[in-house]
Amino acid sequence: MPKTPATSQTLDPRSMAGEPPRERSLRPAHLSEFVGQDTLKENLSIMIRAARKRGEALEHVLLYGPPGLGKTTLAHLLARETGAEMITTSGPALERPSEMVGLLTSLKPRGVFFIDEIHRVPRSVEEYLYGAMEDFRLDILLDRGPAARSVQLHLHPFTLIGATTRVGLLTSPLLGRFGFSAHLDFYPSEHLAQLLRRSAAIFGVALTPEAEQAIARCSRGTPRVANRLLRRVRDYAEVKEISPISVEVVDAAFSLLRIDARGLHEMDRRLLAAIVEKFAGGPVGLGTLAAVLGEEEDTLEDLLEPFLIQQGLIERTRRGREATRRAYEFLGVEPRRPQERLL
Ligand SMILES: Nc1ncnc2c1ncn2[C@@H]1O[C@H](COP(=O)(O)OP(=O)(O)OP(=O)(O)O)[C@@H](O)[C@H]1O
Ligand SMILES: [Mg+2]
Repeated sequence: MPKTPATSQTLDPRSMAGEPPRERSLRPAHLSEFVGQDTLKENLSIMIRAARKRGEALEHVLLYGPPGLGKTTLAHLLARETGAEMITTSGPALERPSEMVGLLTSLKPRGVFFIDEIHRVPRSVEEYLYGAMEDFRLDILLDRGPAARSVQLHLHPFTLIGATTRVGLLTSPLLGRFGFSAHLDFYPSEHLAQLLRRSAAIFGVALTPEAEQAIARCSRGTPRVANRLLRRVRDYAEVKEISPISVEVVDAAFSLLRIDARGLHEMDRRLLAAIVEKFAGGPVGLGTLAAVLGEEEDTLEDLLEPFLIQQGLIERTRRGREATRRAYEFLGVEPRRPQERLL
């Protein structure tokens, strides 16, 4: 995972920091507790029931979308709902084919093999996945040169679940072998408010409906951020001994966290201001922007941009990133005329 030097952990949906084991209990234990993503849940639940009825392994599933939207949670739920044992690994952990062969051969019949960050599986390892996914077979080459021979290993039928934030980096042979690809999108505020209600009940804290909505609006459409903001607001309310948590308490806690009324975090504002003020609204290349902000390119691309694009604040063009008219409105700056950009 790349470093995120200047990005606050509150904003970073990838960060698991401050998520003590007790609070991992926020993870839904059943598909019915998984908030929102209704069409996706229905599709998955039909696949699960059909596989169960036929006594077969669930088809291979790819889960993709921005960080913190529930890919890992869904992978666990799929295994649980099919009653399958799950072996978990990640793209970077599968350095050599032998590691993957070891894991695949230890899978029980109809087991789930979960590869997180599947876009980071090395190509030499990925090639073994093709036969494993298609025919539950591994063709292993022993020795080299004239002594080379290949042996075939038969695997139990299994389900591969892959998760990625970068579906564009997957090769087409790999993509083509998934029976179902599920895109997780940002959650609307109503769903985040529902999620916050559930989390608040688990924490045993009382929130007014307005406070719930205020946190939901500032959660960047992301469950992991919503839960983290709830924890920060809970801390604030506990220290100040205030209950139930009202919208005023949320506002006070957010202003300390430097989250503004529109839900933009400090890092969002820095990025928008850099495009608008330093590059006259863009276009500006990702590398240049990352250097100016002191951030990794991956952080900008994975973490900040998807939400800012979804909010219509920036556009990703072939020539680089551009601020939209809306971004100028957000920053309270007049858009420059095109000729001024040339100066
Ligand atoms: N739909 C949901 N309903 C309830 N809780 C959710 C939902 N989606 C995510 N969460 C909560 O948000 C947290 C983050 O979800 P998860 O770890 O599954 O995200 P992810 O998509 O795998 O992120 P990453 O790309 O960083 O691996 C979980 O611990 C879970 O508590
Ligand atoms: Mg995950």
